[in-house]
Amino acid sequence: MLPNILAAGLLTGLTAATNLSTSATPQASGTTSPALAGAPPCDALIAAGLRDRLLLPVDPSYEPQIESWWSANARLHPWCLVLPETTAEVSLTLTTLLNAGRGAGDWHIAVRSGGHSWPGSNNVANGVTIDLSFMNSSTYDSATNTARVEPGARWGNVYADLQKAGVTVVGGRDGGVGVGGFLLGGGLSFFTLRLGFACDSVGNYEVVLPNGTVVNANATSNPDLFKALKGGGSNYGIVTRYDLEAIPSRNLAYDLLYLPGNYSQQVIDTVVDYAKHDEMLGDNALVTFYTHNTSVSATTSIGVIHVNIVGNTNVSTSFDNLKKLPALFTVSDLQTMAQAAAGSVLPAGTRNAGSTQTFKNDPVILQYCVQLHEEYVATLKQSGVGAGDFETMMFFQPLPSYVGQLGRKNGGNMLGLDHVTENAVLWTGGVAVNPNAPEGALALAQAELNAMSAKIKQFAGSVNGGMELVYLNYADASQDALGSYGTDNVQFLRDVAKRYDPLGAFQTRIPGGFKIGRV
Ligand SMILES: Cc1cc2nc3c(=O)[nH]c(=O)nc-3n(C[C@H](O)[C@H](O)[C@H](O)COP(=O)(O)OP(=O)(O)OC[C@H]3O[C@@H](n4cnc5c(N)ncnc54)[C@H](O)[C@@H]3O)c2cc1C
Ligand SMILES: *[C@@H]1O[C@H](CO)[C@@H](O)[C@H](O)[C@H]1NC(C)=O
Ligand SMILES: *[C@@H]1O[C@H](CO)[C@@H](O)[C@H](O)[C@H]1NC(C)=O
Ligand SMILES: *[C@@H]1O[C@H](CO)[C@@H](O)[C@H](O)[C@H]1NC(C)=O
Ligand SMILES: *[C@@H]1O[C@H](CO)[C@@H](O)[C@H](O)[C@H]1NC(C)=O
Ligand SMILES: *[C@@H]1O[C@H](CO)[C@@H](O)[C@H](O)[C@H]1NC(C)=O
Ligand SMILES: *[C@@H]1O[C@H](CO)[C@@H](O)[C@H](O)[C@H]1NC(C)=O
Ligand SMILES: *[C@@H]1O[C@H](CO)[C@@H](O)[C@H](O)[C@H]1NC(C)=O
Repeated sequence: MLPNILAAGLLTGLTAATNLSTSATPQASGTTSPALAGAPPCDALIAAGLRDRLLLPVDPSYEPQIESWWSANARLHPWCLVLPETTAEVSLTLTTLLNAGRGAGDWHIAVRSGGHSWPGSNNVANGVTIDLSFMNSSTYDSATNTARVEPGARWGNVYADLQKAGVTVVGGRDGGVGVGGFLLGGGLSFFTLRLGFACDSVGNYEVVLPNGTVVNANATSNPDLFKALKGGGSNYGIVTRYDLEAIPSRNLAYDLLYLPGNYSQQVIDTVVDYAKHDEMLGDNALVTFYTHNTSVSATTSIGVIHVNIVGNTNVSTSFDNLKKLPALFTVSDLQTMAQAAAGSVLPAGTRNAGSTQTFKNDPVILQYCVQLHEEYVATLKQSGVGAGDFETMMFFQPLPSYVGQLGRKNGGNMLGLDHVTENAVLWTGGVAVNPNAPEGALALAQAELNAMSAKIKQFAGSVNGGMELVYLNYADASQDALGSYGTDNVQFLRDVAKRYDPLGAFQTRIPGGFKIGRV
């Protein structure tokens, strides 16, 4: 998702140039707290010599680290956090925990990179969380034109680091999002219409397998694992490094418009036009979002972000039609990747839910979504959530059919779009609920959002506009993201998981996220 709440900020006159929130990042070492944790798996980590990498609830840095999870409802409290700093420490951590798990009862392990995904996917209350926050370096190897990026890095820092070497990579738009989870789910970016999903730029993964072995997965070594990791989620091991094909550093031509909600038809026309674009126009990215926050405005506003990835401000597209409308607020300038990422950081700390659908590029379906969004807002206002305690974000992202083929050049990904011949629009519904809202408010907002998502799927099907993809990075836990990749891909992912994780550790001991065993 993108700058939704940026909307609120902009409309209330706050600056968009938020500094990257370098979360309170504790140094686990040097604490004076106990030598024993009292929880068997944490004690096993201490016995393995990892005390300096642990945060126990009694440690002063424990709570600040929990608050570095993006969504307030994802801030679960594990028995201990373990923050490895090297690949060897990840291997020791994983094998220690899995061995401590034998016969140890009902406790689980979680893996966290940037911590932006849904509650329970990246953290655990009854067990131990492996937090990769300290593995956050980004380096550039000019000999191979490769950026080596660790999973705990945030995209804003990745761009700022790589810029010093004159390069950048295809990655997240919101600078606070983590590298690890984003790339495992595919990765939609400003470069999608030119270079495909972000995972298509990965040339090599360094992976710690459940038995502690460290392998490379690339086109020639473990090629099955290489392909499975491109969209296949967290099912095979812990990725400790992503080697990304670097591209030259650049300025983005960045345009942002906030329009009153009554210009919806013009916005839909532009989205539909962009979803018809052919590759010639692939340098032009469009993201639109409908947002409602009663504290800011009584009506819905529409944010439209346009980016030309080669910094060309002169290209003429249907976006120009929107520029002629009376906007509430505009930004139009050249921004580095790091600037754009820093300006797009959605503030953390609200309680969140999201859902996604993909459908054919038919304006009737988009209009239906807009109508449902208004109904959703009305329902929440009248319900136990209450006006003033929530903010909606509904995104449309054009996905012309050729995008599915872009991945093929680099060996292909798992998303199942390579055989799709229809232009599509990717829909994402999101809601942020004030953490102080009444008990049950989030549950209600989430249930209504899931109902809206189901209605969209049903309606799209009824007008012959249905499409399979349930995009993993935006999916709700109740959705079958991996199952949407198609029968062959699902079977492939099952086989690869069995080969690299024969005991099913990532299915049963590390159950968070989208699991092939649950498809
Ligand atoms: C504000 C916001 C903006 C967003 N913008 C975009 C966007 O522009 N484009 C887009 O495609 N998506 C976007 N997303 C979705 C985002 O890509 C996912 O939430 C993604 O999972 C975040 O990555 P992370 O590292 O922060 O994930 P985490 O929450 O840390 O992890 C996600 C999942 O991956 C697993 N995992 C994480 N790291 C590893 C690893 N190294 N090895 C094995 N498993 C691992 C975790 O166990 C968990 O199940 C956005 C989300 C938010 C909240
Ligand atoms: C960003 O950080 C810099 C340096 O710390 C500071 O000078 C500036 O005021 C900050 N800007 C915002 C918008 O917080
Ligand atoms: C990496 O994380 C550490 C600890 O949280 C932090 O101090 C540092 O600034 C981060 N570095 C980068 C490049 O993001
Ligand atoms: C692929 O993996 C092999 C084996 O580890 C390694 O030697 C080779 O350098 C890797 N290739 C790339 C492109 O990283
Ligand atoms: C849309 O609403 C704005 C005020 O929010 C108003 O100025 C404008 O005239 C309206 N335009 C149309 C086409 O209704
Ligand atoms: C855009 O147009 C202006 C004026 O014609 C010209 O000076 C400039 O070089 C053009 N920029 C690009 C990136 O094409
Ligand atoms: C709504 O907007 C206000 C004002 O910008 C902001 O403080 C609040 O956090 C927003 N509400 C939510 C739930 O995001
Ligand atoms: C670890 O697992 C991999 C994949 O299943 C296997 O190839 C390798 O032989 C195993 N290593 C050890 C030391 O058991």
